[in-house]
Amino acid sequence: MRLLSQCCAGNASATLDAMVPQQEICKVYDRIAPLYDIWGRLAESRARMRAIELAGIANGSTVLEAAVGTGLAFLEIVQRNRDGRNMGIDLSSGMLEQSRQRLRSLPGASYVLAIGTALDLAQGTGTIDILINNYMFDLLADEDLDRALREFKRVLKPGGKLALVNMTKSETLSGGFYELLYRLSPRLMGGCRGVRLTEKLKQQGFSVEVREYHQQMLFPSEVILARA
Ligand SMILES: C[S@@+](CC[C@H](N)C(=O)[O-])C[C@H]1O[C@@H](n2cnc3c(N)ncnc32)[C@H](O)[C@@H]1O
Repeated sequence: MRLLSQCCAGNASATLDAMVPQQEICKVYDRIAPLYDIWGRLAESRARMRAIELAGIANGSTVLEAAVGTGLAFLEIVQRNRDGRNMGIDLSSGMLEQSRQRLRSLPGASYVLAIGTALDLAQGTGTIDILINNYMFDLLADEDLDRALREFKRVLKPGGKLALVNMTKSETLSGGFYELLYRLSPRLMGGCRGVRLTEKLKQQGFSVEVREYHQQMLFPSEVILARA
């Protein structure tokens, strides 16, 4: 009963830390990769598309998507940036394989998909116009949140855009459902719990231009546009 009331209390409960360590994330996502799109479309599609809209990708840009997953956003990015540079990285080879299959629908398009971690990016300092990152911070340990944000700030050009989507703390009673699920089985939730990133972004020197709350299938997301 206490658990239920904590979870449904929305912002009254403290943010939970990640319960699935990074070393296990690969295995978890390799396993769910073939089915991920069902969830990705049902509960996350509106927030993901809103982030792409906010990013305002101009053709000819240098764009990095960190934690590219199965490529649901990456396909949209590459379509908008046919003459630019498009890079997608992810920890999970299973998720990357789904991305590769999806991008086959754009023969001749220019992009690179590679294994990599957002905690230690291979890209040079000040080289990226737009960085897109969806539903990754919600599965990082608290101690890694600042580290990833510092890496994003490092690789972005000054004034470069960061479009971010996370599972967030529910702002409605019904949105607390998924936090309850996370408490019962973190793996069932793919290791994701609600986070709020605007304050952390400001601490790392980003200026936050937009922060929106979206809820789809009761699943609470925040969409953020910030500048380096
Ligand atoms: C919930 S899925 C989201 C996938 C995709 N961004 C989307 O919105 O459909 C989380 C993804 O983050 C990846 N991931 C987790 N930690 C990462 C890290 N440190 N660096 C890169 N990718 C990571 C996982 O492998 C997984 O593909």
